[in-house]
Amino acid sequence: MNTDDALYRAAVSAREKAIAPYSGFHVGAALQCEDGTLVTGCNVEISSYGLTICAERTALFKALSEGKRQFTRMVVVADTEELTAPCGACRQVLWDFAPRLEVTIANLEGKQKTLSLQELFPHPFGNHLF
Ligand code: THU
Repeated sequence: MNTDDALYRAAVSAREKAIAPYSGFHVGAALQCEDGTLVTGCNVEISSYGLTICAERTALFKALSEGKRQFTRMVVVADTEELTAPCGACRQVLWDFAPRLEVTIANLEGKQKTLSLQELFPHPFGNHLF
């Protein structure tokens, strides 16, 4: 991925909208839908901490609620030297709706790594089991 990539730039901008007064940890995500649409998300923290939503799920739920169902790529940006990968909860949610997603994790300096969701979440639970 090039850092001029629209998806990377959208994730960086989304990160600037993060609401993270408790952790101070700001995350942005940008999701590419199969129709070419780009949907962004940031983390939103809640005073009852467990109700917080991550940037990745914000982006996915926004896209789903707009009727999008097919997704190709997601870029996740945080300001960390060791790249920030999606948490376990987000991996499960992403797997349910986008099992073939390609996920690029990146920082503000442009350091990046691309992984398939299958690599990130190799032994999924899902509705194929019941
Ligand atoms: N967070 C995300 O938004 N995405 C990640 O991939 C990791 C964690 C958020 C949740 C919380 O607001 C803050 O980062 C610290 O955990």
